[in-house]
Amino acid sequence: MNTSRRTAKSFAPGRIEIIGNHTDYNQGFVLSCALPQGVEAFVEQIESDNIFLNFTSDLAPEEFSFSAFTEPQATPGAWTNYPLGVIKYLREEGLEIPPCRIQFTSNLPAGAGLSSSAAIEIATATALLALSGTNLPPMDLARLCRRAENEFVGVNCGLLDQATSICGKAGHLLHLDFRSETYELYPLPPGHLFLVIPSGMKHSLVGGEYNERRTQCYEAARVLNVRALRDATFSALEAAADQMPEMVFRRARHIIGENQRVAECVAALQNNDMVAFGQAMTNSHQSSRLYFENSTEELDNLFEIAVSTPGVLGARLTGGGFGGAVVALAKASKASDAAKTIATRYLQRTGIHTTATPYVPADGARLLPTH
Ligand code: GLA
Repeated sequence: MNTSRRTAKSFAPGRIEIIGNHTDYNQGFVLSCALPQGVEAFVEQIESDNIFLNFTSDLAPEEFSFSAFTEPQATPGAWTNYPLGVIKYLREEGLEIPPCRIQFTSNLPAGAGLSSSAAIEIATATALLALSGTNLPPMDLARLCRRAENEFVGVNCGLLDQATSICGKAGHLLHLDFRSETYELYPLPPGHLFLVIPSGMKHSLVGGEYNERRTQCYEAARVLNVRALRDATFSALEAAADQMPEMVFRRARHIIGENQRVAECVAALQNNDMVAFGQAMTNSHQSSRLYFENSTEELDNLFEIAVSTPGVLGARLTGGGFGGAVVALAKASKASDAAKTIATRYLQRTGIHTTATPYVPADGARLLPTH
């Protein structure tokens, strides 16, 4: 931050959920990483009565303003709700936010399930904290931004997206524990990378399915008499099968299996066994499709194509589901051919154009120089 000019600039990345699907709000485990792409927020204190939010984008360049002396109000469906919610809760933490202009730019595809919304939240918070010369511990910042999403935007998401956007580390996977809200880092073994392949069908968490799944998971935990599904076992679930609707049983089955598969992947990282890692990812997709029912026809097509492409060790839908993207683990030496093959076969099969983009894990949110 430059104190004389009162400006600050931040960058917050999108994320890939590598494995651990809908486990975060069940106090379970996830492996994730940050992307090199994300959202930049440049904030500048101005002589005005207003706070201006600008979003530079080819699709929807937009400006929004509101009085800096009033409480922000949500507008249903507007992207501005993400920064506004953050402003509201930063103020509740005692931060004074002066009249300013916040300019956002993003090179992250929206609706691809890569958490563009969390990136906007974290970029906003990081820049505004820097403007006032304040700091928050990383997980407190993640929780504040999740609160903006839960209470201001109205999506009951867990902490995965915000925590990963802040804590990501280049070359590493985050093993997140959503009970203790802590994480450990594991290096991604050399010679591997992740392909992210959008299905072309936008994913929107503002839809009701996400919150519905969450309610079903809590219902299962209640019947099983555990604090959260993290504490449930397959045998307890089987024993209680006739006490819950069949659909609730299947949702719980997915979550219990996902937590086990995250543990399998951590063991695979420790043993440098990326074939086992890939197999767990593939099993995760099958479980999403059959038990959690958050896949789509397009995601299933993309998954099938990816796992039958040479050089791919496993694949699964990533993020909330109901659209969005597939993530595949690939051998780096074969990734470029695999990327082309997957896009060509997907176009042939569905008529939808896509691009498989290779990623290695990148660093989390940070401040950038303002000049
Ligand atoms: C979305 C939510 C996360 C998490 C994933 C599913 O990305 O924002 O909190 O629940 O879906 O794992």
